[in-house]
Amino acid sequence: LVVNASDGSGWRAPDTLFGLFFEEINHAGAGGLWAELVSNRGFEAGGPNTPSNIDPWSIIGDESSIIVSTDRSSCFDRNKIALKMEVLCSPDGSNTCPTGGVGIYNPGYWGMNIEQGKTYKVVLHVKSLESFEFFVSLASSDGSSILANTNIVGAASDFSNWRKVEVLLEAKGTDHNGRLQLTRTSKGVMWFDQVSAIPTDTYKGHGFRNELTEMLASLKPRFIRFPGGCFVEGEWLRNAFRWKETIGPWEERPGHFGDVWKYWTDDGLGYFEFLQLAEDLGASPVWVFNNGISHNDQVATSTVLPFLQELLDSIEFARGDANSTWGSVRAAMGHPKPFDLKYVALGNEDCGKKNYRGNYLKFYYVLKTAHPDIKIISNCDGSYRQLDHPAHLYDFHVYTSASNMFSMSHKFDGTPRSGPKVFVSEYAVTGKDAGTGSFLAALAEAGFLIGLERNSDVIEMASYAPLFVNANDRRWNPDAIVFDSWRHYGTPSYWMQQFFRESSGATVLNINLKGNSSTSLVASAITWKDGDNNYLRIKIVNFGSNSVSLKISVEGLAPNSVDFTQSKKTVFTSKELMGENSFEEPNKVVPVESLFREAGTDMDVLLAPHSLTSLDLLR
Ligand code: AHR
Repeated sequence: LVVNASDGSGWRAPDTLFGLFFEEINHAGAGGLWAELVSNRGFEAGGPNTPSNIDPWSIIGDESSIIVSTDRSSCFDRNKIALKMEVLCSPDGSNTCPTGGVGIYNPGYWGMNIEQGKTYKVVLHVKSLESFEFFVSLASSDGSSILANTNIVGAASDFSNWRKVEVLLEAKGTDHNGRLQLTRTSKGVMWFDQVSAIPTDTYKGHGFRNELTEMLASLKPRFIRFPGGCFVEGEWLRNAFRWKETIGPWEERPGHFGDVWKYWTDDGLGYFEFLQLAEDLGASPVWVFNNGISHNDQVATSTVLPFLQELLDSIEFARGDANSTWGSVRAAMGHPKPFDLKYVALGNEDCGKKNYRGNYLKFYYVLKTAHPDIKIISNCDGSYRQLDHPAHLYDFHVYTSASNMFSMSHKFDGTPRSGPKVFVSEYAVTGKDAGTGSFLAALAEAGFLIGLERNSDVIEMASYAPLFVNANDRRWNPDAIVFDSWRHYGTPSYWMQQFFRESSGATVLNINLKGNSSTSLVASAITWKDGDNNYLRIKIVNFGSNSVSLKISVEGLAPNSVDFTQSKKTVFTSKELMGENSFEEPNKVVPVESLFREAGTDMDVLLAPHSLTSLDLLR
């Protein structure tokens, strides 16, 4: 392998080369990255009619002691359902309340992670026509032990109209599958609505679950595409993501049923929060917008203008000044400064649909005039021929076998250079080669990414998909990060991405890989500067089952210019090709780093069978 590191050789990779694709799938957001613990906090998940299904809320007590129903008495106009709780038992008399009282509980998303010493903010809305006392508590999964508790006493005069109640609860014990309880020990009628419980220590205080967000930050993502995927389209337009329903005070958001991945979301993680997340990660937001097309219905181009207006409004919300109509709504949410929105994708995987091109073009020309700095992403594949419509980028998705993915390291070698740039916004090995996240899948993907890096004169962005899975709701396998209420781990595909986190904005060097084994090898080389340090990284995937002895020479560097005392070698391999990580063994398949004393301008390296090796030379 010959690497040309002479001054001026190579080209600068786009600053946005590697990033993230977040989709609300597998409970990635609701019950995942979004730290809200209460599921169905407004009792709306059963639909806007009464009687309503309040699942997963359940009753503490039996029919002789409590009756729970729903009505439409909420003070929130866009989500009118409220919960009415009638307690029939008393502290004394014939119908005595059980010890601990009766009431309702919410188990969150397969259990709430309640940890000793942590503080939780509980907010709820209460109405009562009589004076009352009730208890707000965090309890163990079966309610047998109370981990935090407070009582709320109110007079009818204060609560005959809805009132917001806020409490901070510090947990005195731990249960990773705990629950929130609202209970009473005395007879009476009261109403609850919009109940939230959230740990106070979220990422940058913005409501994102800390350790999951840190996993993202550690990849140094340069962009984040959101909020989906199919989630953006919906099976039907009536269930698609509508950004205006996801902004403003959380209590006023109606929530919606995502009919593709088949679950309700309260939309606490809404359009504003996505923009905030992008900012917090230092990543450029990529806003995927539904241009009037779902899986099963489509808006005709002649009537699509209201959708276009929605998009223009969303851009004003993100970037307009704080006095503009929608910018002022953003400012009221605590972010007067505009967000740095520069990418808009029109639709998702919709190129083949009857109205796509017509709708796309209508959006494209208006957007280009109104916001010339925004880059517009088409759903149509321009990798093998020129697009028949204008775009800054086109979206390319690939889910395939491991061998196919590896061979696709050459996919973009012959792609037209003159047209729009490529956004590989979804890639992953799937099927039997991948299981729920195998090493084999990650290795093939590494080969593919090396190919993207080497074609980064035409590839502008790339992101793995899907990003997250809550292990209790595996709608799609594999995924990069697996979690439940309290644990998490990266699949091998997550760890593989760590090898590429310095590539965005780096200089990609020309290389020449010669020899017999080159069909099972792919390689790339980049240089980048970090402070005063100059690094050169050579990455090689050996996709074959034999070890390979490789001679590497780096041209254009003085022989003694490499600091071998501080150079590193990182090897990613696995005893089993189908090896996976798990909650029990989160670090079973992870890269191993060591000092690389052989670093220099001429090196002999032994590549393990089925391995990804990274040589980081400090110069
Ligand atoms: O990543 C999962 C799904 O795969 C996405 O929603 C969709 O764009 C693709 O079909």
